[in-house]
Amino acid sequence: MASSSTTVTITGAGGQIGYAMMFRIAAGDMLGADRRVRLRLLEIPQGMRGAEGAALELQDCAFPLLDGVEVTDDPRAAFDGCSIALLVGARPRGPGMERGDLLAANAGIFGPQGEAIAAGAASDIHVVVVGNPANTNALIAAHAARDVPADRFTALTRLDHNRAVGQLVQALDVRPDEIEGVAIWGNHSATQFPDVSHATVRAMPVVEALAARLGDRAAALAWLDETFVPRVAKRGAEIIEVRGSSSVASAANAAIEHVRDEQRGTGATWTSAAVVSRGEYGVPEGLVCSFPVTSDGSGYRVVEGLDFDDRSRARFEASVAELVAERDAVRELGVV
Ligand code: NAD
Ligand code: LMR
Repeated sequence: MASSSTTVTITGAGGQIGYAMMFRIAAGDMLGADRRVRLRLLEIPQGMRGAEGAALELQDCAFPLLDGVEVTDDPRAAFDGCSIALLVGARPRGPGMERGDLLAANAGIFGPQGEAIAAGAASDIHVVVVGNPANTNALIAAHAARDVPADRFTALTRLDHNRAVGQLVQALDVRPDEIEGVAIWGNHSATQFPDVSHATVRAMPVVEALAARLGDRAAALAWLDETFVPRVAKRGAEIIEVRGSSSVASAANAAIEHVRDEQRGTGATWTSAAVVSRGEYGVPEGLVCSFPVTSDGSGYRVVEGLDFDDRSRARFEASVAELVAERDAVRELGVV
């Protein structure tokens, strides 16, 4: 058993996703059974009682890997010495709201948190932003954390990736681990492009497997265009509509898998994550954009050299255009 513990900070820890993730993290689901964990829970004053109550429950679980829990409303204390930060705390989208409506409300949260990370986090810090609009919140935090390498900041599109796999599982009647090569491109929003053109199921191209099931290639392409892409891209809104509030357990699960695969490696396959663009696929440098990514355990890197047909390229570019518009909107607020 390793002797030192990894400090993991969860913001918005008194909220729904924070509650759904912290017990799994403390149980070892994120970093593995060989890494001890110290949890820091950050809240705003109104959320402190919720986080404090969760901390009491963590004690009551007596998790063998958990070395301690601290609850604070001070970002500097929360990120001091932290190696992994899950930035969840934000205002969730309600019925009828789009992510753009949330930009201004959240800009004031992620700038100060980026500064606090730069001031005190450990040198191996890795950050994933969950709070929406996640890509642009990550851009704000990365910009504010000036001395921290930009590639330490990511945003969550693993939930979209898992949703895409989930839809294929239903359509093809296969197991999730039989599907490889799905990719989410662009923004964590309804403009995202869930792409199966490089995906396989039991080593057969997904498009061919769909054609075999639905009759022919034209039927497969129609299902992808008319059902699959909009269903995945709008799944967040569907969950809000059905549950009455946004996704919780699936989001917590995706964030845990995002960090797990970044830290422990993706192996022979890839996943999807929003990372700071270095110009890959023509995406403007500095935008936090979702790509297919791999990790060797040191951080996510974009899978390069994949080809697009014209329609796929147009979809991806539309989502990148939305990211550019969000960046321009927060530029007007003076935060990037
Ligand atoms: P929630 O309202 O239950 O919890 C949010 C918590 O954040 C609250 O307890 C609030 O007090 C706290 N908070 C607000 N400002 C804070 C700050 N400055 N510092 C620390 N804590 C702060 O919401 P939730 O359901 O847990 O969702 C959290 C966020 O995650 C929302 O923005 C939601 O839209 C987003 N989300 C993202 C994805 C994704 O895939 N990227 C999926 C689902 C939800
Ligand atoms: C989701 O994808 O479930 C979340 O981002 C919530 C939302 O606003 O869609």
